[in-house]
Amino acid sequence: MARQNQTIASLFDAGDDAVFDWAAAAPIAMACMNMANDSGLTEMVLAGPAPLEDLARRIGAPPDKLRRVVNYLAAHGLLAVGADGTVSATPHTASMRRYAAALKINIVRTIAGSHLLDGLQQGVTPFEAAYGRSVFAHLAAEPELGAVFADYMGFMTDRVLAFLHADHPFAPFETAVDVGGSFGALLLSVLEHYPGTRGILFDLPNVLAQAEPRIRASQFSDRVALVAGDFFETAPPADLYLIKQILHDWEDADCVRILAAIRKSIAPGGRIAVIDHLLEEPPTPGEALSTDIGMMIWSPGRERTQKDFEALFADSGFRLGRVTPNPNGHSVIEAAPA
Ligand SMILES: C[S@@+](CC[C@H](N)C(=O)[O-])C[C@H]1O[C@@H](n2cnc3c(N)ncnc32)[C@H](O)[C@@H]1O
Repeated sequence: MARQNQTIASLFDAGDDAVFDWAAAAPIAMACMNMANDSGLTEMVLAGPAPLEDLARRIGAPPDKLRRVVNYLAAHGLLAVGADGTVSATPHTASMRRYAAALKINIVRTIAGSHLLDGLQQGVTPFEAAYGRSVFAHLAAEPELGAVFADYMGFMTDRVLAFLHADHPFAPFETAVDVGGSFGALLLSVLEHYPGTRGILFDLPNVLAQAEPRIRASQFSDRVALVAGDFFETAPPADLYLIKQILHDWEDADCVRILAAIRKSIAPGGRIAVIDHLLEEPPTPGEALSTDIGMMIWSPGRERTQKDFEALFADSGFRLGRVTPNPNGHSVIEAAPA
């Protein structure tokens, strides 16, 4: 099913306060699932059934209030409560854990989004209006949140890997750089699918310090180099540059700086693969259109049409190559030196 393509008008047409139900359910569901994940309750229950009083004591919450949260989650199929009050897992408890980082970041985005108007009026991103600094400065200053964000990026990457490997096989390459590669979810998957290649995880020093133990624990550790740096200034030499969910964080002039730094380092015959949403013309409801506003809330960035990408490439010494559109998520837009 195409993602996020239901129109709000169709909800109004559905009557019965469908718009209110749609808007009101998500914050409550997110609050309860976040509480279960953050407190460790999800893990505890996945480890085995436990009496509610026991769980309340372990997470430091009043049993009567925890019972109401547990009842909510059980009514939604995410936990099960026995007649004697024992709480146990259902087949969906692990899904709640899988979404943990995405749900937490959604709360941050909701808070930042509540500053959409004053951010626009003040000429800063709504994120800055809410948190007092840019998103990457905030993540660097709050390493715990930084790790949650990186896990969220890993979650977003997992959603596109099947499409990427099935629909957009890369032409042979020797070394791939994952530009702003976070904890390396994309890079590790690419190395798995392209035996004999090498990878460079390129990101800010604070991000790589957190990524390193995971990379070193992976079976591809000996094929990965970690390079810390500023992608506005430099890029490691390679013949394939993976640029996933990077350009959408930045305005055009900054994207040109990132691409121009790569243009200086790219090997002869090399190419870049931008992995981002492709905005449709005219705009249609869907994930791309909603993340376009998500990026406005989060950063100076935006989602782009294919024409927008072509203009960025032209301004940074590249020309458009193979494009594989993905109506349900991130598309792949290749370019090579012009
Ligand atoms: C939206 S995340 C994308 C992560 C990853 N490419 C993915 O799709 O899962 C943006 C990444 O860019 C990195 N980044 C931000 N500013 C950077 C800079 N100036 N130089 C290098 N990396 C940077 C961040 O640390 C973060 O990992």
